[in-house]
Amino acid sequence: MKILAIETSCDDTAAALIEGSGTGKNARVKIISQVAASQIPLHRRYGGVVPEVAARAHAETIMPLVAEVFDQAGYKKNILAAPPIDAIAVTCGPGLVTSLWVGVSAAKTFAWLWNKPVFGVNHIVGHIFSACLERALPEFPALAVIVSGGHTELIWLPRVNAWKKIGATRDDAAGEAFDKFGKLLGFPYPGGPQISALAEHGNPAAINFPRPMLTDANLDFSFAGLKTSGRTWLEKQKKLPPKLKADACASYQQAIVDVIVKKTERAILARAPRTVLLGGGVAANDALRSALAEMCQKNKTKILLPEKKFTGDNAAMIGAAAYFAPRAFKTTWPKLAARPNFELQ
Ligand code: KG4
Ligand code: ZN
Repeated sequence: MKILAIETSCDDTAAALIEGSGTGKNARVKIISQVAASQIPLHRRYGGVVPEVAARAHAETIMPLVAEVFDQAGYKKNILAAPPIDAIAVTCGPGLVTSLWVGVSAAKTFAWLWNKPVFGVNHIVGHIFSACLERALPEFPALAVIVSGGHTELIWLPRVNAWKKIGATRDDAAGEAFDKFGKLLGFPYPGGPQISALAEHGNPAAINFPRPMLTDANLDFSFAGLKTSGRTWLEKQKKLPPKLKADACASYQQAIVDVIVKKTERAILARAPRTVLLGGGVAANDALRSALAEMCQKNKTKILLPEKKFTGDNAAMIGAAAYFAPRAFKTTWPKLAARPNFELQ
C-alpha cells in the first residue's frame, strides 16, 4: 500500500511517499521518497514561530514539495492523472490551525481529484511511530514518551492501534523549556539543539536546578518552574564566561532529562510495558537518549529510539501512523478538517 503523506502542523512543510507492507506483527513501512522544507530561518528573526508567517510559507511550499516527492519516486509524468498511490495521509492536528489547514486543503484536493481514501492523522501518533519507520514493529504493550516543542506526554499503547494518554505537561513542554532558556542565553531559535551541543562541554552537576514534580506520585510534568529558575539564576550572574555557560546548559539539560527519565520509570513500574518508544524533536537529545536507554536496561524493558533523522517533524511518520493504525484515522475528504486541539483518544 503506497501512501502520499503531508505534514504542515507547525514550522516544517513536509511530504513523503511511503510503502506499507504486511499485517499484524509483520507490518512494516519503508520510505520511497521524502522532502521537507524547514521554516526555521524565517522564524529566527522573531525568536519563535509566527503562525501567519508559517501558514504563508506552507502555502507557497506545499505543492512544489508534493511534486518533488513524486518526481523523486519517478512518477513525474502525468502527475495530474491518478498517480500510483492507494491513499493520502495528512496531519490534521494538534497544531497551528492556519498551518494545519494548508496541508489539510491540499490532501482534500488530492483525495477528491484522485478518488483516494484519506487519513486525518494525529501528529502525536505520528511521533510515536517515528521510531518504527523502516523497522519491525516493537512488542506491545508499549509506552511512548513524546517530547517535542509543543508536547511532553506519556502514552500507553496496549496494541499497535490503540492509545491512551497517561501523563502530560501541565504547562511548558520539554522542547519549550529548552528553547526559552536558549533564548535567554542568546541562542538563535530553536535553542534546544544549541543547549545540548554546549552541554557536552559543561558539568551537569554544577548548578542544582529544580526537578519539578519529581516527587509527585502522578505521571504529569511541569517545566514552567524550571524555566523561571533558569531565568533567575541567569539574572544573578554578573558575567557568563564560556565555562559557566556550558555548565548552565549541562545542568539545565540534566534537570529536564532527570524528570523525563524518572516519570518514564514510574510508568514502567506501574504498567510493565514490553517496549518504550521515544519520539518528538527532543528525542534527538543524546543525554536523554542514553539516560532513558540506561534506565530501561535497568528495568529489563526494551527501548526503541527513533533514528535522529526522524525525530523532528516529518511526513514519513504521518504515513506510518496511517498504515499502522488505519481505522483510527480513516475518513472521507469532505469530512477531513483541521483539528488544532486534536486530543488522543
Ligand atoms: O517535534 P518537533 O520538531 O516539533 C514539534 O512538534 O514541536 O520538536 C521541536 C523541538 C524544539 O523545541 C527543539 O528545540 C527541540 O525539539 N530539539 C531539541 C534537540 N533537537 C531539537 N531539544 C533538545 N536537544 C536537542 N538535541
Ligand atoms: Zn512534532
